Amino acid sequence: MNKKVGVIGLGFHLPKKVLTNFDLEKMIDTSDEWIQTRTGIRERRIAEPGTGASDLGSEAAKKALRDAKLKPEQIDLIIVATLSPDMPFPSTACFIQDKIGAGKAACFDVSAACAGFVYGLAVAQQFIASGMYRYVLVVGAEVLSPLIDWKDRSTCVLFGDGAGAAVLGPVKKGGILSFHMGSDGACAELLCMPGGGSRHPTSPETVHQGMHFLKMKGNEIFKLAVRAMSGCAVQAIKKAKISPDAIDCVIPHQANLRIIQATIEKLGVPMEKVYVNIDRYGNMSSASSAIALCEAVEEKKIRTGSKVLMVAFGSGLAWGACVMEWA
Ligand code: ACO
Repeated sequence: MNKKVGVIGLGFHLPKKVLTNFDLEKMIDTSDEWIQTRTGIRERRIAEPGTGASDLGSEAAKKALRDAKLKPEQIDLIIVATLSPDMPFPSTACFIQDKIGAGKAACFDVSAACAGFVYGLAVAQQFIASGMYRYVLVVGAEVLSPLIDWKDRSTCVLFGDGAGAAVLGPVKKGGILSFHMGSDGACAELLCMPGGGSRHPTSPETVHQGMHFLKMKGNEIFKLAVRAMSGCAVQAIKKAKISPDAIDCVIPHQANLRIIQATIEKLGVPMEKVYVNIDRYGNMSSASSAIALCEAVEEKKIRTGSKVLMVAFGSGLAWGACVMEWA
């Protein structure tokens, strides 16, 4: 690495509407007790119909820019991690660029589902360390609620909407110490949205078959998630040349509290060091780890000098971990 690169500003944004487990009890055959014991989720936020990922993402981005004390025109690159883009194209990053007035930025999206924010940080870090760009905005933004089949109790209880953003730039001390990422395309169809792409373009038939909704074999993913999250976290910690004991705060992807607990157990890090917000927001895919990072900093669980491990896993399958020393 040529330069030290770190997070210099953070922001997040959530829709106001709260959907509780008790609300879901009135919609489908489920119970607050089942959802809480199997997932750790109590409630989630749901965007108003017509909201795009860029609407939530641009609000998060504006807050991150204020936190970084930068003007929008100082941003060189915008990377948006999302699996619920405003449209299949153009990129949601372009919509966010326009909404925040970052006219000098290049823009693109990364597609790595729940691991997308960590992947976005890795891409941003490369551009800054190489000297090509100075300030990069990374946004994890999701409006998952329209992608969900609200009659499918095995998926609809899990997800929520939200966005988190980070500005990355050069730092004098600390910053990003390591990344480790991986994927397994052989498991691609365990979690996917089959319709609306080039293989199954939208047609009355794809809509009739519900192919425009998220499909997940949750049970099969569970074990893979624990193995991949703990495995890549170990590799990232090793590459950072620190011991697991040195980690002050873990920011995991929030897919399921039991996945987080099993991953953390394998790492040998105490649960007190792990930031959890799945109870309040459910799984917001790429936005989950972004928002968790923002909240952990706001609540002073992360301070200057803290060693932070971010670790995420999702559709692809794709997983990634990052170790930082908070600048
Ligand atoms: N309410 C009540 N009962 C339910 C519900 C519900 N909402 N959903 C399923 N059930 C029932 C099932 O029908 C089944 O009943 P049966 O035994 O009579 O057939 C029973 O509960 C057990 O179902 P399982 O699917 O085995 O439940 P499990 O304990 O595996 O929990 C869950 C399901 C929560 C989805 C879990 O498997 C999980 O979290 N998987 C991983 C998800 C994940 O990590 N995804 C990747 C990230 S997301 C992304 O990339 C977008």
